[in-house]
Amino acid sequence: AEDGYDLWLRYRPVEKQALVRYRAAATEVVSASHSATAKVTSDELVRGLSGLLAKKIATGTTIHGNGAVLFGTPANSKTIAGLKLPLAGLGPEGYVIKSATANGRKITVIAGNSDVGALYGAFRFLKEIQARAPVDRLAIVSAPKVKLRLLNHWDNLDATIERGYAGGSIFNWWTLPEHVPPRLVDYARANASLGINGTVLINVNASSLILTPGYIAKVARIADTFRPYGIKVYLVARFSAPMEIGRLTTADPLDPKVRAWWRNKADEIYHAIPDFGGFLVKANSEGQPGPQDYGRNHADGANMLAEALAPHGGVVMWRAFVYSHEVPDDRIKQAYNEFKPFDGKFADNVILQVKNGALDFQPREPFSALFGATPRTNTGMELQITKEYLGFNTHLVYLGSMWQEVFQSDTYAKGAGSTVAKVIVFNNKLTLMAGVSNIGADRNWCGSIFDQANWYAFGRLAWDPDAKADAIAADWVKLTFNANPAFDQPVVAMMMGSRETAVNYMTPLGLAHQMGTSGHYGPGPWVDDAGRQDWNPVYYHRAGKDGIGFDRTATGSNAVAQYFPPVAEKFSRVETTPENLLLWFHHLPWDYKMASGRTLWDELVTRYGEGEDAVHAMGAEWAKLKPYVDDERFAITADYLRIQARDAKLWRDASVAYFQSMSGLPLPSGMRAPA
Ligand code: GCU
Repeated sequence: AEDGYDLWLRYRPVEKQALVRYRAAATEVVSASHSATAKVTSDELVRGLSGLLAKKIATGTTIHGNGAVLFGTPANSKTIAGLKLPLAGLGPEGYVIKSATANGRKITVIAGNSDVGALYGAFRFLKEIQARAPVDRLAIVSAPKVKLRLLNHWDNLDATIERGYAGGSIFNWWTLPEHVPPRLVDYARANASLGINGTVLINVNASSLILTPGYIAKVARIADTFRPYGIKVYLVARFSAPMEIGRLTTADPLDPKVRAWWRNKADEIYHAIPDFGGFLVKANSEGQPGPQDYGRNHADGANMLAEALAPHGGVVMWRAFVYSHEVPDDRIKQAYNEFKPFDGKFADNVILQVKNGALDFQPREPFSALFGATPRTNTGMELQITKEYLGFNTHLVYLGSMWQEVFQSDTYAKGAGSTVAKVIVFNNKLTLMAGVSNIGADRNWCGSIFDQANWYAFGRLAWDPDAKADAIAADWVKLTFNANPAFDQPVVAMMMGSRETAVNYMTPLGLAHQMGTSGHYGPGPWVDDAGRQDWNPVYYHRAGKDGIGFDRTATGSNAVAQYFPPVAEKFSRVETTPENLLLWFHHLPWDYKMASGRTLWDELVTRYGEGEDAVHAMGAEWAKLKPYVDDERFAITADYLRIQARDAKLWRDASVAYFQSMSGLPLPSGMRAPA
């Protein structure tokens, strides 16, 4: 059955007409390397080619004839060394795929500077066939622009997942270290196919138990499983661990006993896992412990951990998602205010991990003002693959276009053209892209078929943040379903419009944080008793008789001042603020005239309606595509689109009715009254 387990690595046979051609291009798999990575590379090529070409593919250490697929490095293959491939400058993870001639035979060579580079190249070669691209004149050169490409699992030790919508955790701590489920190998394959090279195994709201010897042994076994695939494991370090599992009476980062405890802990971990990646830390945010509990600052905390990891080559990813309701200012200003003053104070192996926007993974936010603002501190990006604020696993929302919008936003950090992508890639010695995983134990991994596209898109954009979201979607559709343009084109169009659709029925025109408190699924614009002001939707929309929106200009919270001057100026003025961020930055009267000629009120209502309508249109489009999809994946998607339509209607009706109680205005003529 097509239950989605195989993700984009399905390797179903190519159509008859193309079979002869592809069979001629891949007759055998050849490698002279015997490393564990070479072994899994060979296995993947055999698996992929045998599936795609519908015949058993043999392996060997020497080329027997035309069509051999030779993979390896210049160091482990004389043939590869002799071909003088453009490998210089590609680093340990880049690859070259080239149609070549060796000993009079026509071959395909897949080469890296390391076996992992060749592994990535092997997945790329398989992708070319999966997408039905020609493979007889290949000359592909690729290398990642970002060094650390990581998933962040928010998985708890009891197998629940914070903001997970795809079942329980795939990490079964109970049966480890003795038993590693085969699923973890498939997880590693899927990640390696995208070039994801690290994974943080547990929730940022962490338990210290993960750092105890019993768990370290379990983590070591996972690390052994992932190592051949080029994936390192990382853990979350709970700041108070020295007190909770170490019997110290303080976790003060400047206390010598605390520093010694972390050094010993790092030594212990590296003894079990020599290539351990490092620590991710959520400190002094949402009630988590941190250095400020002892009157110290973020740099004190991060540098203490960095010092413990440095001798082993580990890194600290220190999250900038820091806010507190005890700070009375506009919440979105806090991270910048807390971190900017410490720029240059962080150790070389510390990376600030900054969410794409300053609030919290909303359907649309402007990029965080921290990008570009900390040039003397390694600064990486945290994206959320799991759709906490975007309809969980049921709503079809492709995030590639949202992330592209973030990466292509211009920070003006070093003049025009300083896009977020450039700032991340070029401003830092250590570059990082982190994605909060949407993976769980469901057969289809992500809770829906289309959410697999978000895992896929994250991996592709982590490799190259300048990659195009539509091209990535097109690849995903081809690999996941089929390479039939009659199917692919409408599906890609559906995916590319899906995020704007969600924005429209949830939070149009720059509104944010309108979801019901704590669950974050349905609408809750009326909520004003979430327990703390900075969780209340009313705090964010500020609607009243006079108008709607959050004034973040000089007359309001002045959050705009955190951006570089051209950006600050653009967002300060209503006329130059993009309409899709209007109410994020401005409080405007209901009769404010929009570009469309409508009043703000009419425009708002119109957008909600457009969002709802577009979900119905997706459902209708998908229904037409039934002939091209297997029954199982067709049905789950069709059913989920019905759920999304139900929810979009609720969002629209509830939001329009609520805001109407503020504006006191009639609906634009012809508009359906909220049900
Ligand atoms: C969001 C989310 C929390 C999570 C937090 C974080 O606020 O709702 O569940 O812990 O982000 O990123 O730390």
